[in-house]
Amino acid sequence: MTEILLEDLPGVGPATAEKLKDAGFNTIEAVAVASPAELANTAEIGESTAAKIINAARQSADIGGFETGDMVLERRKLVGKLSTGCVEFDEMMGGGIESQSITEMYGEFGSGKTQVAHQLAVNVQLPREQGGLSGSVIMIDTENTFRPERIKQMVQGLSERNGVEYDHDEFLKNIHVARAYNSNHQILLVDSAMELANELKDTDKPVRLMIVDSLTAHFRAEYVGRGTLADRQQKLNKHLHGLQRFGDLYNSAVVVTNQVMSKPDAFFGDPTKPIGGHILGHTATFRLYLRKSKGDKRIIRLVDSPNLPDGEAIVSVTTDGLVD
Ligand code: GTP
Ligand code: MG
Repeated sequence: MTEILLEDLPGVGPATAEKLKDAGFNTIEAVAVASPAELANTAEIGESTAAKIINAARQSADIGGFETGDMVLERRKLVGKLSTGCVEFDEMMGGGIESQSITEMYGEFGSGKTQVAHQLAVNVQLPREQGGLSGSVIMIDTENTFRPERIKQMVQGLSERNGVEYDHDEFLKNIHVARAYNSNHQILLVDSAMELANELKDTDKPVRLMIVDSLTAHFRAEYVGRGTLADRQQKLNKHLHGLQRFGDLYNSAVVVTNQVMSKPDAFFGDPTKPIGGHILGHTATFRLYLRKSKGDKRIIRLVDSPNLPDGEAIVSVTTDGLVD
């Protein structure tokens, strides 16, 4: 497949292409999913021109149309299952974390969201026979919590468990980390991620896992007060659709983390609710609720999924990584 450039779209000259790129619309896909108003504003063009450009982008990117059931089935055949390395956890997930889906992990601080994310970044690189997807990882790190030292320890642990001498430097080389400095930057990084995934597509380590840790922290910090809630949800929604698109295009698993906020007015049940509320609930395909238990034990509950029963798994977060 030859790569289509923004300049190849009818109505996009070099100057417009430049403006689009400056605004973060780096790829045909990014333009294809933009709204005419959004594009008109950033590229200083009329809305009808913007609409034409978007249509052309949709056609070249081959998106926005309908897929027949058998096409969906064909695409679903490619779905990979990424092992968590824990038997119970994998079973609960129907074999592992699915590609082409968004899996949300929510829980309070210290519940292990970042630890699970690190472990998945290691596991995904393993060959399929060993539970991986032979892939590399893109990690959008919003809280500066990525620790290469932790990856080393987990690779070490894996070497011992599998009786194979893995090279931790090789593992680190396949993890592409970007810090996101604010919510806008975070959204734009998905476009950069598409470019990187495109470059790696035909290598022996195509991107098979996208991690956003934390999905909601910037949004929560930037949109404070009741009046801003609708804006926040709208942006978050757009971001999630970008992520879903990433998963579909590159057959990649998408794992996002989310904090819980304390809901003091809840008298019964668990007084915590994930940030992002309903929009996130409906976009994330698998939702996992992580809770601290005794010592290094963590309880992971599958809250809802399209085709699996709800369930719970117990795992341990140890220096060697996530284990049964
Ligand atoms: P927030 O991002 O603050 O919301 O929390 P989180 O859910 O991401 O928690 P995280 O995954 O960072 O879990 C932190 C916990 O993991 C620590 O309190 C430790 O219990 C455990 N942990 C982290 N690193 C190590 C390690 O090197 N060895 C062991 N044994 N445990 C670790
Ligand atoms: Mg964390």
